[in-house]
Amino acid sequence: MTDERKQRARVTVPKLRAMKQQGERITMLTAYDATFARMFDDAEIDVLLVGDSVGMVVQGLDSTLPVTVDEIIYHCRAVARGARHALIVGDMPFMSYQVTPEEALRNAGRFLAEGGAQAVKLEGGASIAPAIRRMVDAGIPVMAHLGLTPQSVHAMGGFRVQGKTEEAAERILHDARAVQEAGAFAVVLEGIPSDLAGQITSELSIPTIGIGAGPSCDGQVLVCYDVLGLTPDLRPKFVKRYAEMFAEGVDAARRYADEVRNGVFPDAIHAFGNVRTAAATESPRPSSGRKRGAKRNGRATADVVPLRPAYGPTES
Ligand code: KIV
Repeated sequence: MTDERKQRARVTVPKLRAMKQQGERITMLTAYDATFARMFDDAEIDVLLVGDSVGMVVQGLDSTLPVTVDEIIYHCRAVARGARHALIVGDMPFMSYQVTPEEALRNAGRFLAEGGAQAVKLEGGASIAPAIRRMVDAGIPVMAHLGLTPQSVHAMGGFRVQGKTEEAAERILHDARAVQEAGAFAVVLEGIPSDLAGQITSELSIPTIGIGAGPSCDGQVLVCYDVLGLTPDLRPKFVKRYAEMFAEGVDAARRYADEVRNGVFPDAIHAFGNVRTAAATESPRPSSGRKRGAKRNGRATADVVPLRPAYGPTES
């Protein structure tokens, strides 16, 4: 681990509040495993959301509804191992917080105690304010989520922009006030008109994190598979792709397969040396003064293949 990576302090809930007050924008991405968490931590992303979107991008489901508490906790643990800097938020799945505040509290506690998350997120406004209050009173930071709430896909009649009429916008504004009043430390605003997001952002004292909500929010979140171009069939209007990893992956896998088929890979560079014969072991050649595997110009010599510790055998 680099010294810089060791030194950076963990992003905290009070830090996010301070960022809003100082006009510093908050960056957030979803993450589902240790490698991606490490990647985004190295990029100094402030918040990693272990989203129930894992159901759609990792599990291949067509909604987030079947995702379970145990599954999110499993992914939280992996993300917690990869991220040392970002605040980790565990997304509470469908029906894990709606039934009673007590059940919500019990489930939320598991994200922190078993998953290594520092906060939870849940979808909904005034109707789940009592659950938010219960968790916050127990010391669990809660991020709310309003507008296009994917767990209500059937009630919304699909993944549709919300708050387009004055009445619907007023309801979302009312919900935003309710979740702040209940103690939420931030609120995700998804799939709503930019002017409504701007109005909520200027009225609330807690940070708003937008996704498909325009440029006025205090921060931004996107699903990491969208940002990295890992979702070949999906190009939502609000997503900007910063890489084309799916296409690069197809290309890499195709070149690998070609080389294996043509006998180009594996070659001598990517293989271990021959079995040492008894004769060679008993009477070694006169030493040239250089140890086996010694570095030449900073690179390992050919007879020792450097492998990551705990990832494969070394050749001694
Ligand atoms: O599950 C998720 O990825 C989310 C984000 C889209 C905010 O809730």
